[in-house]
Amino acid sequence: MKSKLKASVSYLCSVAMLVAGLVSMPTVMAADAAEFADDYVPTVLITGSNRGIGLEFAQQYAERGWTVIATARKPAQADALNALASKYDNFIVEQLDVTDFNRVDALAAKYAEMPIDLLLHNAGISGGSDKQIFTKMEYDVFAKVLEVNTIAPLKISEAFYSHVKASRDKKIVTVSSSEGSINGASQPRLYFYRSSKAALNMVMVNLALQLKRKGISVGMVNPGMTDTDFMAGLPKKMLRPTADAVTDMIRNIDALTIETTGSFYQYDGTIIPW
Ligand SMILES: NC(=O)c1ccc[n+]([C@@H]2O[C@H](COP(=O)([O-])OP(=O)(O)OC[C@H]3O[C@@H](n4cnc5c(N)ncnc54)[C@H](OP(=O)(O)O)[C@@H]3O)[C@@H](O)[C@H]2O)c1
Repeated sequence: MKSKLKASVSYLCSVAMLVAGLVSMPTVMAADAAEFADDYVPTVLITGSNRGIGLEFAQQYAERGWTVIATARKPAQADALNALASKYDNFIVEQLDVTDFNRVDALAAKYAEMPIDLLLHNAGISGGSDKQIFTKMEYDVFAKVLEVNTIAPLKISEAFYSHVKASRDKKIVTVSSSEGSINGASQPRLYFYRSSKAALNMVMVNLALQLKRKGISVGMVNPGMTDTDFMAGLPKKMLRPTADAVTDMIRNIDALTIETTGSFYQYDGTIIPW
């Protein structure tokens, strides 16, 4: 008798929980629908956006009507970036040296309530080809290149993880380089830069595996040889216009989904081998 009573009580509890669940479900869905309504304005946070590819990303996302949080090491000297901030609504310039972890945490805390749809790791350094010559390697430079190119994107992804998770699009994308493709290496050069990007790719593949069940897509994009200070000294005819390189990368970022998370996109949309 006692066990029959126990069974009925547990049955009634299950029914009550089911009803409560059904009643509360539309409330939750309504909240989601309201949060991500048709007029939802996505937000991108970009590192190293005072010049080159980062500046062009900031401009193109602003043109699309996104909210742009454009970060730079020295905003007071970032004239082109500040001009964009005057031109576009919802364009915020923030100071950020990506290797300053205290500042990374402070910025994440400042924007704690702001969903970030696209966390865009762009800041990068080569270290200079004259510092990475076999028999004359400058190891302090190697450490710096790893700090900026490889370690900082992981730290920033950790700091802004909850912001990305709270957003609609939920993407973390890194501007990597085909120079980091082990399969693609046929001549020795740029030991520091190449290995920093190869390691960066593995950091991002790990992140993709880690965050897939959270609905966050992680991707890597390659601009191709692009006409920025990074490529100073190379003949212009070898280089792609920055606007084209960025338009191509944005197309690949748009195409990134949870199904393709962990992909490394060449600018033409093909996949770069590891
Ligand atoms: N250009 C190409 O052909 C090419 C090809 C493949 C991949 N990439 C990648 O594309 C990304 C952008 O390169 P780019 O061509 O635009 O180079 P760039 O013109 O030299 O610009 C590099 C950007 O990174 C910033 N930066 C460097 N160290 C930083 C730090 N510690 N904290 C914050 N920002 C920092 C720079 O800021 P400051 O002005 O303060 O130094 C600058 O805004 C890099 O990750 C690069 O590896 C470029």
